[in-house]
Amino acid sequence: MLNKTQLKEHHRRRQNLMRAMGNNAIAIIPAANVKPRNRDVDYPYRQDSDFFYLTGFTEPESVALLAPGRKGGEFILFCRQRDPQQETWHGRRLGVERAPEALGADDAFPIDDIDEILPGMMEHGERIFYSMGLNPEFDAQVMHWVNQVRANIRAGSHPPKEFISLDHILHEMRLYKSRLETGVMRKAGKISAQAHMRAMQACKPGITEYQLAAEFTYTFAKNNACEAYPSIVGGGANGCILHYTENSDALRDGDLVLIDAGAEYLGYAADITRTFPVNGRFSSIQRDAYEIVLEAQASAIDKVKPGNSWDDPHQAAIKVLTKGLVHLGLLKGNVNQLIKKNAYQAFYMHRTGHWLGMDVHDVGDYKLDDDWRLLEKGMVTTVEPGLYFPAESGVPKPLANIGIRIEDDVVVTRDGNEVLTDLAPKSVEEIEALMASTS
Ligand code: GLY
Ligand code: MN
Ligand code: MN
Repeated sequence: MLNKTQLKEHHRRRQNLMRAMGNNAIAIIPAANVKPRNRDVDYPYRQDSDFFYLTGFTEPESVALLAPGRKGGEFILFCRQRDPQQETWHGRRLGVERAPEALGADDAFPIDDIDEILPGMMEHGERIFYSMGLNPEFDAQVMHWVNQVRANIRAGSHPPKEFISLDHILHEMRLYKSRLETGVMRKAGKISAQAHMRAMQACKPGITEYQLAAEFTYTFAKNNACEAYPSIVGGGANGCILHYTENSDALRDGDLVLIDAGAEYLGYAADITRTFPVNGRFSSIQRDAYEIVLEAQASAIDKVKPGNSWDDPHQAAIKVLTKGLVHLGLLKGNVNQLIKKNAYQAFYMHRTGHWLGMDVHDVGDYKLDDDWRLLEKGMVTTVEPGLYFPAESGVPKPLANIGIRIEDDVVVTRDGNEVLTDLAPKSVEEIEALMASTS
């Protein structure tokens, strides 16, 4: 059941979308499918982000239809009917009768009746907004409905004239977070930061990567959250594998451990990385390398403000990283020339951030036409520079198998930015102090 504020927010989103669609159009948005895991067991259900954004509804087997200006109602929901036996086995259902009040739908119908009802509603729209290609089964169903309308053309029906990708306008909307959304993301950031602090305090030589990962599962679950993506806990060489998720090794005295883990809370993701010494004290070479990444992150975060380009934080980060690589003796030459040649890419092979929201790699274009877009209030980006020195890269022995990434979530405000995840310590002194204290 949505509360009043949530009802208003979802209503506002639908109104904005319908305004952008214009009349004589309908949008069809299906819920996510249930995904089987193995015999009689499904993966935990996760609603489709677009569907959830517009409806706030968390059940599968539903379809939302938006028809701007339609006299019989603009927001129609198809959903499962109540069924005492099914609900005894599999859990409660909202049901068709309660959907209008609970979700602000103008009308609701049983999902089993959609084949009879939806083709008639398609006649309302000369233009159909639909995200094709994400769900082949549902694509086929949409085509089937269109063909049903076409088959009746001699009886006076009006088949749709245009198919328009819903993704683009909807994803532009999702890129700009409202106050309610940034509030939820602040909470997701706080829960995630608390989990990182627990992991720092639990860490000691001999503990395994999966035991540290368990600190995240536990903290997220305690806060009514779950993993926004599989936690990455990589000690030593494993920290140099960007998306390492085996989390199977024991952590060794003298190594660093890199943890990239974030919570999903009420549908919104946090995405935090911290890197710290397994034994609680940075060695001097680890500290040197770590502080280069930390400085790169600070200069990148500084560039997150309205009017700057999406690429500015990345450029700021690679400048500091390249200088640092020269300082460490891994690159030789003029810093600007080295940047031009992308020399840093041997040790820093990803970009400095991505949009963040309901999806951890969230929707929204990074370029408009051919240019990087400008940052605007309400956009949320990660800032996550790193340096990776796997032994195979041929770096001098003291640097071998050091992998460092520092990642925070940053929202663009009216005149600068707010870091949503700064509760998690990241200076050398703060990390060492926290690790020395008992929980
Ligand atoms: N956790 C995935 C990423 O940082 O992009
Ligand atoms: Mn990230
Ligand atoms: Mn991450």
